[in-house]
Amino acid sequence: METGLEGKRALVCGASRGLGFACAKALCREGARVVLLSRNEEALRERVEYLKGQGWEASYVVGDLARTEGIQQLAERARLKYGGVDILVNNAGGPPAGDNLSFTYQQWEDSFRLTFLSAEEMTKHLILDMAERGWGRVINLTSITVRQPVTGLILSNSIRMAVVGWAKTLSLEFAGSGVTVNNIATGYTLTERIEELATSRAEKSGKTVQEEIESMAAQIPMKRMADPDEIASVVAFLASSKASYITGSTIAVDGGYIIGM
Ligand SMILES: NC(=O)c1ccc[n+]([C@@H]2O[C@H](COP(=O)([O-])OP(=O)(O)OC[C@H]3O[C@@H](n4cnc5c(N)ncnc54)[C@H](OP(=O)(O)O)[C@@H]3O)[C@@H](O)[C@H]2O)c1
Repeated sequence: METGLEGKRALVCGASRGLGFACAKALCREGARVVLLSRNEEALRERVEYLKGQGWEASYVVGDLARTEGIQQLAERARLKYGGVDILVNNAGGPPAGDNLSFTYQQWEDSFRLTFLSAEEMTKHLILDMAERGWGRVINLTSITVRQPVTGLILSNSIRMAVVGWAKTLSLEFAGSGVTVNNIATGYTLTERIEELATSRAEKSGKTVQEEIESMAAQIPMKRMADPDEIASVVAFLASSKASYITGSTIAVDGGYIIGM
């Protein structure tokens, strides 16, 4: 399939590992030049070396997406790497787990900054150039929580809905300019984060890490978690020229997890 991604310039946020890195890899594979952004410089350097070792073009920007006031500068630094950004993948670490009364006002605000404002602010500083060039892609990695609340994830259940409302509104605003805006409702995916979660559960339960992963996977109709590449390939498709008529959509990639028509 001709994706039209050859030479396109992408910025992938939260790309030092997990879903973000898988997206960076998928876009590189299709010929895009990719800037990886996250806080951990050593991890980013290693990831970029790996991508370059495959013969692909990649670079990195170090920054903290939770520091809302610094996002414009991060956008500028990313833009300078290849002279512009055509594709933006918004992604970051997830908000902490817990229920309604377990969070302070400060934790709600911090989570809102990381999960909502990072995407909103980064997009604000890059989307006008995309519209001016008449082509662009904004893809937000969200979660199944935007379709079906997950018990114990009240921050994700709440704040990610704001991302979807914002993205839909933005997609309408830019629908006539060649810029599409879409979301992925990501299902359970076997990343480092999930492995860490399973390890911490195993320490408490006395089960093995593998048993904890299997018990999480048992809730999924496909009875397994996604491989990060299975999410990334949908992101690469949404970024491609083949997805030119898809905008304002939230696409579930969840092994059948979300129950609904
Ligand atoms: N894995 C799943 O099953 C799943 C399912 C649904 C939704 N999600 C959501 O999808 C997102 C990615 O998931 P994942 O499993 O890939 O998570 P992950 O393994 O924890 O990776 C998160 C990435 O975001 C970066 N990051 C975290 N905080 C940041 C900050 N303040 N500024 C800049 N970069 C930051 C991390 O790099 P640094 O540490 O280098 O900054 C890392 O590269 C999360 O929001 C998660 O909640 C995941």
